Amino acid sequence: MTDDKTAGEGGPLLWQKAGVAIDPAVQRFLAGEDVLLDRQLIAYDIQASRAHAEGLARVGILSETECSSIADALDDLKGAIASGRFVLDDRFEDMHSAIESFLIDKLGDVGRKIHTGRSRNDQVLVASRLWLRDQLARLLAVNRSIASVALMRADLDMALPLPGYTHLQRAMVSSAGMWWAGWAESFIDDAWLARDTLAWVDANPLGSASGFGVNLALDRDYTTEALGFSRLQVSATYAQLSRGKFELQALAALSQALLDLRRLAWDLSLFLSAEYGFVRLPAQYTTGSSLMPNKRNPDLVELLRASHAVVVGAQSELQALLSLPSGYHRDLQFSKGPVLRAMQHGLAALELVPKLLESLAWKQEAMRTAIDEGMYATDVAMDLAASGVPFREAYRRAAESSTDAHAAQRTPEDSLKARVSAGGAANALLDRLSERLHAITNAGSRTK
Ligand code: ARG
Repeated sequence: MTDDKTAGEGGPLLWQKAGVAIDPAVQRFLAGEDVLLDRQLIAYDIQASRAHAEGLARVGILSETECSSIADALDDLKGAIASGRFVLDDRFEDMHSAIESFLIDKLGDVGRKIHTGRSRNDQVLVASRLWLRDQLARLLAVNRSIASVALMRADLDMALPLPGYTHLQRAMVSSAGMWWAGWAESFIDDAWLARDTLAWVDANPLGSASGFGVNLALDRDYTTEALGFSRLQVSATYAQLSRGKFELQALAALSQALLDLRRLAWDLSLFLSAEYGFVRLPAQYTTGSSLMPNKRNPDLVELLRASHAVVVGAQSELQALLSLPSGYHRDLQFSKGPVLRAMQHGLAALELVPKLLESLAWKQEAMRTAIDEGMYATDVAMDLAASGVPFREAYRRAAESSTDAHAAQRTPEDSLKARVSAGGAANALLDRLSERLHAITNAGSRTK
């Protein structure tokens, strides 16, 4: 079946030529879920449309009055979307068409001027870029707050003995504070990575049009400033090449944080089992079993652990998509779904973590009981070596004496008090971590 209008009821498509029929099935496939995903981006498209209109006024394409009536109409549209009076649905091919038809309905010929000097190709780039910046700012903020909870708890729990494991075998005496400090420094790095990635993607693609510029002296520096970008993405061809590339880098920053979360969640799920029994979480973080009345399961911790997989899936989908020559290709539309979903899911997971960590309670008795005498062997060897015994000899003696008097007299507290190497419990240098956490500035460098 064919239809010479659109799949929806929004009137002819922006680019539709008279007398050319549109097959609704084809139209539906072309639009796909795009119009739904665009609901998350349309506010940014509106913001960029306003900057574009102001730019057009600066080069005389729009009069001041026309520009301000466009700005007012865009405000109306924004309000109508927020209040639910305007719904982006499949009456439109995408958010770009929706904005333009709204302006035309409202302003007639003035609305028909908005697309001068722009293409949906740079329009989707700039809207996604503005959205991406906001997501990275959120990633930066959540990494920071996870790090700050972990750092605070590192300080409180530095002297609280916890068995340290390698290969999941009991290794050396460690402390809850040392465990926390590791996560703190990890999420500080993740926050820096989010910040640097934010600075890396903070470039304005608007004005590159289809990917080749236009024969109009658009004031691209003005729109860069108006949209708060720290630099212009200069080359019109690079603007197109960066679609997907920038998103992929943002997902890389996100996946680092979720990789850390995966490993943290692994520790927690082990520590929550009766076999370890080191940790207690408030009831709101565990769920019951539908069959086994005795169970409290750490489902949330497990879903946090699984969240990394969602992001890795999106990364590989994007990498597969980017197997393309330069220039715009409609394939790129499929980059939206994985990126939006991975960001939304990944950030939602991370944003649950600060409170979860704040509420974690240690079960000190069980932690202490799991520290056996063998775990002092390294301390014994090091003490002997410090008194002049060659280390290999000290190692041999300690191996033999791990259950003898040397070790038996030691306590976990002794072991921790003597751990004076930088980064050890007696010299944790948390102030350095704190300085590095507070040195993270929010946005990109804002240099042109
Ligand atoms: N929905 C499209 C996308 O995400 C918008 C750009 C359309 N451009 C085009 N030349 N057909 O890529």
